Amino acid sequence: MCGIFGIVTNREQGLGPVLTDAARRLSYRGYDSVGCATFHADHSVDLRKDKGKVDEVASRLGFAEMTGTRGITQLRWATFGTPSTINAQPHFDSDGDLVGAHNGNVVNNVELRLQFAAEGMTVRSENDGESCVHAVERWFDRGFDMVESIRRAYGDLQGDYAFVIGHVGEDKLYAIKKGSGLVVGLTDDTTCVSSDLPSILPLTRRILRIHDGEIAILSPGSVELVRVADGEAIQRDPEEIVETMEAAQKGGYPHFMLKEIHEQPQVARELLHLLDASVDVAGYVEKMRKARHLYLVACGTSYHACMLGAVYLARLAGRAAVPVLAPQFIAQYGPALGPEDVGVFVSQSGETKDVLNALNVARERGVEVLSLVNVIGSTLMVTADRCLPLACGYEISVPATKTFLNQVVAFLYLAMRMGGHPTAMLYDLPRLIEATLQQVEPQIPALEQALLPWHDTYCLGYGATYPIALEGALKLKEVTYIHCEGMLSTEFKHGPLSAVSDAYPVIFVAGPENVPLIVSGINEVSCRGGRTIIIGEEDPRLRANGHDLLVLPKSGPLFSPILGILPLQLLAYRVSVAKGFDPDFPRNLSKTLTVD
Ligand code: G6P
Repeated sequence: MCGIFGIVTNREQGLGPVLTDAARRLSYRGYDSVGCATFHADHSVDLRKDKGKVDEVASRLGFAEMTGTRGITQLRWATFGTPSTINAQPHFDSDGDLVGAHNGNVVNNVELRLQFAAEGMTVRSENDGESCVHAVERWFDRGFDMVESIRRAYGDLQGDYAFVIGHVGEDKLYAIKKGSGLVVGLTDDTTCVSSDLPSILPLTRRILRIHDGEIAILSPGSVELVRVADGEAIQRDPEEIVETMEAAQKGGYPHFMLKEIHEQPQVARELLHLLDASVDVAGYVEKMRKARHLYLVACGTSYHACMLGAVYLARLAGRAAVPVLAPQFIAQYGPALGPEDVGVFVSQSGETKDVLNALNVARERGVEVLSLVNVIGSTLMVTADRCLPLACGYEISVPATKTFLNQVVAFLYLAMRMGGHPTAMLYDLPRLIEATLQQVEPQIPALEQALLPWHDTYCLGYGATYPIALEGALKLKEVTYIHCEGMLSTEFKHGPLSAVSDAYPVIFVAGPENVPLIVSGINEVSCRGGRTIIIGEEDPRLRANGHDLLVLPKSGPLFSPILGILPLQLLAYRVSVAKGFDPDFPRNLSKTLTVD
């Protein structure tokens, strides 16, 4: 995920170390390129940027020696354009008078670049951050001042982003927010702006939060705000931040797990934009389509995403795919593997040894290796023949939440592309995820009480909700230490039913297409005194038969399973906290398992 930082001071000084430190503080988001620009009092600009890690690029390009009165640094996480020097940010406008960098996605970047080139501007990269600069240049060169040019650029740039920009002939920087985070920090003689509060806190605790549709005009030690809609000035007093650095990184949430659960609408939206803009998707889908056998290979949570991926591929593209746990892949299918086969290796970390072992043997047998990975630059990402990123930024909490969601979104997207379906309807999903979180979160505390007295429970699903039941059970196991077994609902009567006694909790995840079958399972439990907790869309049959109904927004059979994981993540989180555990770092578990 990209991050930006800008600083305005009242005299020429060594800004390189300040910018490099800020870039280091932004680096937890994950990135592939870094750049710094400093504006000198004599109207010249020093711009240095390249792909690579902050410390390596900073020492190679000599960031430490950069001086100026104003500076911008940016960490880029590739969406538009491959990681390269030219695509790294910040960017110049056509004649080098404007310098800017952004964070987020400009979704009409491709169309805008064509327009800018046709209007005679010099477009140097494929990156959408450069489009932000040209969008301002377009109006500035027609005689508008910076604020008016930025207001007009706002109308031209679609998507969620924040950007910071400066003109060589002024002593200010300008920043604008639309959908992505933006915070200003103030001292007596310095003003800074960043996509991230934690990157500002070591410099100052006097901050001003910028809202969507606002332009911040930064001068040394002061800031003015202007509303884009009407150009009117806005009055807002700075606040003093008292929270610790760690609390700030948690963005106001008590744990990373809860923060990451709530990031899911945003990461899903960003992934969809990324996939729509990616030139790699078509080739990736083509490889999957042409495969003799298509295997989806992963461990843990990522394996559950593969299971749901297989459901989507069959349903939307008529393509049979085999989800398989990585260590079982070679043991079971090794003798049958050949060069006409394709494996999609899925991993949050990209370092899971079980997955890499399977990949290495598959490759020896000539299998085409595709991957879906979150961590940029990980072994799986760099060794796969083709890779699509999951675009979640860093996931700090050990239990995977947002990366699972984006694995599933990626599979849904690929299945739709493979089946020749338009993908525009997928943009409803982030809104539904948001609505689900709002709708179910207040209902969780009552259910927490139903689980707390028990040492074991079951989570059942059927069809597309079967993988969700497995994933929900894994979340509960990981962070609550309750043994929760995920199972196909119809199998429950073949043995596990014997566990049911008075008030024994059983969770059902009901897809809208399988309600009658789920109702049978519910009744088998409730007539033996068990307490049935149902997750599903509003349905009189579920309401009449279940004990508790956690209602998901109406979304239909494709989206409903995805929404179904959200209450399970929240429930696992709440029970963990109620038991006094730290859900971010459960005992005995590791986020990245690099051992056999
Ligand atoms: C570990 C983690 C799990 C994760 C699994 C696979 O067991 O604790 O949360 O699902 O590894 O990790 P990966 O990074 O390959 O998705």
